[in-house]
Amino acid sequence: MTREQQLQYLEAMGVQVWTARHAGSEAAIEGEPVTPDPPVAAASVAEIPAPVAPVPDVLDEADSAGLDWPALEARVSECTLCELHNSRTRTVFGVGNRSADWLVIGEAPGHDEDQQGEPFVGRAGQLLNAMLRAAGLQREQVFIANILKCRPPNNRDPKPDEVACCEPYLLRQIELIRPRLILAVGRIAAQNLLNTQTPIGKLRGEVHQFRDTGIPLIATYHPAYLLRSPTEKRKSWQDLQLALRTLREQGT
Ligand code: URA
Repeated sequence: MTREQQLQYLEAMGVQVWTARHAGSEAAIEGEPVTPDPPVAAASVAEIPAPVAPVPDVLDEADSAGLDWPALEARVSECTLCELHNSRTRTVFGVGNRSADWLVIGEAPGHDEDQQGEPFVGRAGQLLNAMLRAAGLQREQVFIANILKCRPPNNRDPKPDEVACCEPYLLRQIELIRPRLILAVGRIAAQNLLNTQTPIGKLRGEVHQFRDTGIPLIATYHPAYLLRSPTEKRKSWQDLQLALRTLREQGT
């Protein structure tokens, strides 16, 4: 990732960019905002290596049904396993490239997602898109899903029984996609995927493994949190760099 790309990323995320006072200085310092450059193409996707080894097939037992994509999508759309089906407008199955290297997993649909049936379409989604773009990824290149397929009323935290009911759907999606990396955005996603109560601040910044699959999992802050706490955006940027590095080291 070049310095120019980093600046684009920070700008896209709304991180204020500061540069050296003296033109030509290599060492950018914090202190003076710069006029943003006109938008340019995102970092080359070619930076992300092509998949090499297939992911071990250890998720099979997690979903004995072995549904294919259309059957899985239909099953989710009709799901009444937990109480959330009573209040949802639409299920939010997930969207994107079904052969993606990157699987982004959030918490649960919010109001906009419940209305539109697509994850991360609200303000947090715009920021997620900007984060992905800066990492060289178009939204369409990755697959985006949530821990829950239905919106919890008033955006409350998912209940354990809701997570348990929904988990086989997500596991089957992971099995079908066979991503090379999982990016867990937010505390709820990270803690549920890693089966831990450890705070997100401690989970981020390192490479975990998704259960016994061998798929690297990197946790980062939820974009909705970043909208409220913009100073934390730099840490998310570090997490994305870690993800890119992990893929590079893993695959080439
Ligand atoms: N927040 C999430 O975690 N997921 C969405 O789909 C939207 C907002």
